[in-house]
Amino acid sequence: MLQSVISTQEAIALEEKYNAHNYHPLPVVLSRGEGVCVWDVDGKRYFDFLSAYSAVNQGHCHPRIINALIEQAQKLTLTSRAFYNDRLGEYAEFVTQYFGYDRVLPMNTGVEGGETALKLCRKWAYQVKGVPTNQAKIIFARNNFWGRTLAAVSASTDDNAKNDFGPYMPGYEIIDYNDLTALATALEDKNVAGFMLEPIQGEAGVVVPDEGYLRKAYEMCKAKNVLFIADEVQTGIARTGKLLACDHESVKPDILILGKALSGGVMPVSAVLANDEIMLCIKPGQHGSTFGGNPLACAVATAALNVVRDENLPENAEKMGVVFRDRMTKLIAKTDKAVLVRGKGLLNALVINDTETGDLAWNICMKMSENGLLAKPTHGNIIRFAPPLVITEAQVHECCDIIEHSVMAV
Ligand SMILES: Cc1ncc(COP(=O)(O)O)c(C=O)c1O
Repeated sequence: MLQSVISTQEAIALEEKYNAHNYHPLPVVLSRGEGVCVWDVDGKRYFDFLSAYSAVNQGHCHPRIINALIEQAQKLTLTSRAFYNDRLGEYAEFVTQYFGYDRVLPMNTGVEGGETALKLCRKWAYQVKGVPTNQAKIIFARNNFWGRTLAAVSASTDDNAKNDFGPYMPGYEIIDYNDLTALATALEDKNVAGFMLEPIQGEAGVVVPDEGYLRKAYEMCKAKNVLFIADEVQTGIARTGKLLACDHESVKPDILILGKALSGGVMPVSAVLANDEIMLCIKPGQHGSTFGGNPLACAVATAALNVVRDENLPENAEKMGVVFRDRMTKLIAKTDKAVLVRGKGLLNALVINDTETGDLAWNICMKMSENGLLAKPTHGNIIRFAPPLVITEAQVHECCDIIEHSVMAV
């Protein structure tokens, strides 16, 4: 295999010198990916247990998605929405039928999906629900994460993500996650328009709410004519063992936000889905994006969703998740370095026994990287494990062996 022309040290030095310091990556420099694996510039292979934060659910460079990309790229990539293109209508029909909604609003990144959902929710509040002008409120859960724009960090409860970016967006209220009593109190306010929620909090460390929480929260919102907005940017598209994490409790969100794996990690594609009563509140000129709904994105997302269905990725995620958590439970019984494994499908986290420094989780990740597996700590002592959903059982066992050896070795 051809090696890269740039060395690990050179690539890191260039980023350090010329790039903003807004990330703290592990010191590996990747140059190729296929399926569940990635290779660094020296040709060393790693199992990818981050999957670009669950964007690469279909596996790296899935041939069907890449072929769709190449074919469309040779014909037409971008028209803007000033004109129709021959892909968007077909894609809109496909994606709405796939997820069971009347309409889609296509965007690019996950955070734009969140922004779109909130704009839709506010419009609906004023035009349909009858909330007095500029009084609409949206409820969020503590430790939410939906991106980095000012609207998103305004909803954040993480000081590092939020501090010194004020003033913040008004009209937000934060309640504890997984707390139905707090939700009931917040819903007493007649100006509440929506409750935006991750069915499992990914960035917070794969925090899974109690069984029944989503269903009950949804019903409480319905009873108060409040929109239930599901942020499935990370949990959606087969990651948790169902097409959507909300499917675990048969909840159909009023507004559904998707991103990441909607394109199989090939390009930024996001989508907001809703029925007519909500989606038709937004009229021409009130929302949009130059790249949203571009023909390339439509072709790629169609192929990416077909792969999810044809390769039974929800079923595989469900089965492999059971194998993974079982192996981690056995590991926890053997060592006091790890205390808990939690998650659904192939969105899991191992909680490391180190709330003081966070060094242990980082050192375990460094050791795993040395041993050929990539994962990253979140919140100091939590390691998220989210491999591509095309992983086989033999690979899960091979990876669990690597994780086990690495934990025992540090
Ligand atoms: C739940 C959730 N929502 C939204 C986002 C933002 O997506 P993006 O980084 O594509 O803007 C993320 C990103 O990690 C996420 O995990």
